[in-house]
Amino acid sequence: GNLTFTMIKPGAVSNEYIGPILSKITEAGFRIAAMKMIKLRTAQAEVFYGIHRDRPFFKSLVEFMTSGPIVVAVLEKENAVEAYRALIGNTNPEEAKSGTIRKLFAESVSKNAVHGSDSDENALNEAMFFFSRSEIFTKDGEVMMAANQIVPR
Ligand code: GTP
Ligand code: MG
Repeated sequence: GNLTFTMIKPGAVSNEYIGPILSKITEAGFRIAAMKMIKLRTAQAEVFYGIHRDRPFFKSLVEFMTSGPIVVAVLEKENAVEAYRALIGNTNPEEAKSGTIRKLFAESVSKNAVHGSDSDENALNEAMFFFSRSEIFTKDGEVMMAANQIVPR
């Protein structure tokens, strides 16, 4: 698919890395199809990370993700999910390759700067969790779901 979903997490926002991270994203050839700055409520973070509900780090993950504002965005590029996960690097910044966003901007595995969707299906679900169809501006307004309300630029 051509779309993925990302969050710039609280640590990276409070360290003033929004601009540098967006530069890496656009330099890598991604278009920003949707973007906003928000603060997650606990219930939202619990739903978003529901797949990790039974993991030992779930509570600290939710606390961290609700600790301050984040940037949520939909990114457009050919093969977006795989390309973006390559750009952000390993979940653990110590294992991330040099030049990746997590190597450059993450503090730790829990404060790891950014989120990136792990499948096309999750990318669409995550995008629709934060944006209505009329807020997602793809390059040519190409239909990705039953999304005839996606607005071409
Ligand atoms: P996301 O793009 O944020 O989903 O990261 P990911 O797909 O690389 O990792 P995963 O979905 O497995 O985990 C979600 C998030 O939980 C990670 O980004 C980390 O912030 C956190 N996390 C994952 N594994 C650990 C862990 O072992 N310890 C802690 N403290 N946090 C973890
Ligand atoms: Mg994940």
